[in-house]
Amino acid sequence: MSGRALGLGAAVVVVLALASAGTTANVARAANDPGVPQLQPPRLQPLPPPAQVNGALAELGRHLYFEPRLSGDGSRSCASCHEPARGWGDGLPLARGYNGTEYFRNAPGLLSVRLKRRLTWDGRLDGGDLPTAVRDMVTEAHFMNADARLVQERVRQVPQLMALWRRAFGDTADPYGPQIFHAIGEYLKTLDATPTAVDAHLRGEAVQLAPAVREGLALFNGKAGCVRCHHGPLGSDGRAHRLGLADAPALVQEPLRTITLLRHHATLGVPGYMDERGDVGLYAVTKQTGDRARFMTPSLRALMHTGPYMHNGAFATLEQVVDFHLSGGGAGSELQPVALDARERAALVALLRALSGAPAPVHEPVPGDYAPVSRGQR
Ligand code: HEC
Ligand code: HEC
Repeated sequence: MSGRALGLGAAVVVVLALASAGTTANVARAANDPGVPQLQPPRLQPLPPPAQVNGALAELGRHLYFEPRLSGDGSRSCASCHEPARGWGDGLPLARGYNGTEYFRNAPGLLSVRLKRRLTWDGRLDGGDLPTAVRDMVTEAHFMNADARLVQERVRQVPQLMALWRRAFGDTADPYGPQIFHAIGEYLKTLDATPTAVDAHLRGEAVQLAPAVREGLALFNGKAGCVRCHHGPLGSDGRAHRLGLADAPALVQEPLRTITLLRHHATLGVPGYMDERGDVGLYAVTKQTGDRARFMTPSLRALMHTGPYMHNGAFATLEQVVDFHLSGGGAGSELQPVALDARERAALVALLRALSGAPAPVHEPVPGDYAPVSRGQR
């Protein structure tokens, strides 16, 4: 590489590091902040009532969520990787990327995502700011590779979208990138996990839980120790932990995944980023050695639909996930081994299944509502 190219690369990294410095500092504070109040003792909580949303804005957001015009070449929408029929994940161990790229982590499901404190597996995004997460998804080269100005003009050219736009923003309003992200963020707030019989039980209502589910809940809160990290309405403490999972072999075996991983490390300003060829997790955000290979505790809602599981997509079944946890995890894990017999393990799995409600009906805008532009492959 020539000196000039090197200089340019360094300049880009500095600019990116500066641009994200504010966010990074916040994450460093928030991701494992002992000052964040935790329930004592921690416990699973029922899902809260639906959020108050701006109906016209969420309706516009629903159309934009399923709109492939929001990707650079019109090949994919949010729903390509967050599919309603797959618990709003993609059903793959590791997410695919934009054409010509591949991603290095599992795509999370989006049900009740509004309740998350931090977003993504390394917690780099603020859960209280969904529009910024949407912007990242639309503009990142490995997700949808689009540009806000390009996308706003595409919206302007579709009369049906313009009608929805003006209903949301007023009769003379023109499409504007940040408001596109805002509208999709509003729609995300409507994607609630379905409350279950376990929720009714947690609210103190007299419901009949299957004996296995009841036993599973007792183990979850007691001997198995799950509730230490999996609590609150999502079954997540909103913090990052190290369970010692090995990297997915595809990270080094599939060059396109390696490239995206290295770019991620470069973007976040990880020291020696070209040599960090494994997923460093929260460390990429905080640069604290102790945060290496720490990943955010995921939600336990809708697990029946969101496999494969874990940040690296390592496990296809809930039985495997439970066995991994009970074995004490991998190298450097924060987990302690717990001895449970086969019936008790099955009870834990029964509880995890019982936390998945029946999927709510999804009203996808009908393709062909307006002329499609899609030419790329999906
Ligand atoms: C090419 C696949 C792909 C596309 C397209 C995509 N996403 Fe994602 N999304 C992901 C992956 C992978 C992650 C996890 C990233 C990580 O942890 O590093 C993610 C994370 C998220 C998160 C954080 C979830 C959580 O639980 O932390 C939200 C919210 C989200 N995406 C919304 C969207 C929206 C809205 C769109 C459309 C504008 C979209 N995504 C398009 C793959 C995709
Ligand atoms: C020390 C904190 C901690 C404890 C205790 C813990 N977990 Fe986890 N759990 C996590 C983290 C962190 C992940 C994600 C790890 C990763 O991907 O690297 C996870 C992942 C999971 C997943 C996968 C969800 C998904 O969408 O990928 C399930 C299911 C799960 N845990 C259930 C349990 C059960 C059941 C117990 C009790 C036996 C338990 N956990 C105990 C922190 C914990």
